[in-house]
Amino acid sequence: MIPRHTIQQVLDTARIEEVVGDFVRLKKRGVNQIGNCPFHNEKTPSFTVSPAKGIFKCFGCGEAGSSVDFVMKHEHLTFPQAVHYLAKKYNIEIEEEAQSQEQIQAETERESLMSVTQFAARYFTEQLHQSPEGQAVALSYFNERGFRPEVIKIFQLGYSPESWDALSSAALAAGYSKELLLKTGLSIEKDNGQLYDRFRQRVMFPIHSVSGRTIGFGGRILTSDKNKPKYVNSPESSIYDKSNVLFGLFTAKNAILKHDNCFLVEGYTDVISLFQSGIENVVSSSGTSLTTGQIKLIKRYTPNITILYDGDAAGIKASFRGIDMILEEGMNVRVVLFPQGEDPDSYARTHSSSEMLQFLQDQTTDFIHFKADLLSSDAGNDPIKKASVVREIVTSIALVPEQLNRLFFIRETSELLQVQEEMLVSEVAKIRRRAHLKTHPEDQALPELPTPQFKQEVAVPEIDTQLFEKEMIRLMLNYGKLMFNPAQSGIEMPESDSETSISVVQFILDELHFDQEMLFENPLYKQFLEEYQTALQSETLPSEQYFTQHTDENIRKAASELLSTPYNISPNWLDKHKIEIQLETHPEVISRACIGTVYDFKIRKVKKWKKEIEEKLSHEEPDELSRQALLQKWLTLKTFESKLNATLGRIITGG
Ligand code: UTP
Ligand code: MN
Repeated sequence: MIPRHTIQQVLDTARIEEVVGDFVRLKKRGVNQIGNCPFHNEKTPSFTVSPAKGIFKCFGCGEAGSSVDFVMKHEHLTFPQAVHYLAKKYNIEIEEEAQSQEQIQAETERESLMSVTQFAARYFTEQLHQSPEGQAVALSYFNERGFRPEVIKIFQLGYSPESWDALSSAALAAGYSKELLLKTGLSIEKDNGQLYDRFRQRVMFPIHSVSGRTIGFGGRILTSDKNKPKYVNSPESSIYDKSNVLFGLFTAKNAILKHDNCFLVEGYTDVISLFQSGIENVVSSSGTSLTTGQIKLIKRYTPNITILYDGDAAGIKASFRGIDMILEEGMNVRVVLFPQGEDPDSYARTHSSSEMLQFLQDQTTDFIHFKADLLSSDAGNDPIKKASVVREIVTSIALVPEQLNRLFFIRETSELLQVQEEMLVSEVAKIRRRAHLKTHPEDQALPELPTPQFKQEVAVPEIDTQLFEKEMIRLMLNYGKLMFNPAQSGIEMPESDSETSISVVQFILDELHFDQEMLFENPLYKQFLEEYQTALQSETLPSEQYFTQHTDENIRKAASELLSTPYNISPNWLDKHKIEIQLETHPEVISRACIGTVYDFKIRKVKKWKKEIEEKLSHEEPDELSRQALLQKWLTLKTFESKLNATLGRIITGG
């Protein structure tokens, strides 16, 4: 455990621009620095670092956070690991607080289990590459399957020799205890107390943790002996928790981030074959059917999963559960069905990389079409069976947490299956209510909530955001140099910033630029803003006279007018929250007006953007890919909006 004060010291010392600068080439842009985002592919930089606030933010993909967040995300580290990383960079010594006896013991045991597992992994790869037996039977098996040498290396494939106790003896001789061998499941104990190997005469697929340490194995038989299991897998242990492990995630994680999508396949060999075809963002569950833990693991890297199904229909309906579980996590699920008798592995073997990519592109469908196609083929024209197809799909839709997404899926289903939208809406509502009552029986008495539909949506009153633009310019003109501390006004600022004051001008410009670029619509106010921006780059604040004696007559006029207005002219945000207009004599009042105006402006902008998306979605009927992209954008905006609302709420209530 790292002591709190040390964590704080590290956070205070780490300069965001230096930490990020180790990985991203940054250029100065005003008070901020910008560069190409390391978390997604982009050609024009939208990745912004604010040294003043100690944070980074990407307008492209939405990643944001402090220097620790950056290190965690970029290097795939846990929080304590990231703190260690930064401490090392800044030569800060970390004295770990003593752990409890149990913690130490558990940690030590895990380390020992990892150590013996690592030993076994090395043993198996040595057997594969160096022993005559391994080369003769196992390496040639991999060759026959078309696995290339570099891929065999990357996945650290191995071979367990034909012997009862080769590994057990080697491990004991190397000083590993019998207990460790049993706990990892590498060895099994006979009645007489002797050990024998779990994996014998099998090709070995090591299973890695996210950080790349071997935690277990799958071993495939080399023959087609029907009396022996095709695969033998490591049992669960304190280092191998099957429901929270994905085979291939270690080799896939960067590609998943890059493509913002994860392919999910059934087996070890599918992962390896796809990887070899250049599709590296691929994982499979190992030795379990898909679990929620595994889905959450993927969610750390992307909200998008594409499941690849074998072409033998038998297993597919059973795997509908996987689709539902992904939907339940609020993630996007798409599906590819391989031709009869093919799986991703066999298809990759008989097709080129580009054919494979093309196939995946062409065959990807959303879950609604996928389920409808599969189920309808059985139903024919039987109305009862058709109704059950609808019910089946509606049940999935009801699991989607986001209401707007549900509405879109309903629309799609309604069109595809020619069922009235209203009926589907009420069906989904019923299912959701039933599910809710299961966990909240006390709500039985509550009336059913009316279910929103697109048609009934009330229009949000248009409020002229230009009024807010005017107010911001007014505040800058009148109080531009006034310093205040946003952190004390209820705005969430990074710890390290809580002592920092900032001028009104700086605050407004930063805020407008930072979370999402907020552009002014009114050309005149826009010009003011640009003048301020330019002035700030040379680190001077323009005086009142600069504007009142400006060469542009419109600027001169507006400046004079705004400078003679001593109180809020557009305190909509104050009105809304029933706060009296106060004369701006106190810095506290001014800073609150400042923050309030900026945040209310942002909220209105975000609302507007959301609305534009909603309109696009319901009128333009975009294709599946753009629909997903729009939904994603909408969700991001919604999250952003609630954050802004929360902040505004804090300011109104005074922190
Ligand atoms: P497959 O039979 O499709 O195996 O099972 P595969 O990995 O594609 O192997 P090939 O192509 O026949 O060589 C899919 C997954 O189910 C698990 C393994 O994780 C396997 O990768 N499995 C299968 C077992 O755990 N035990 C078994 O006996 C069979
Ligand atoms: Mn297979």
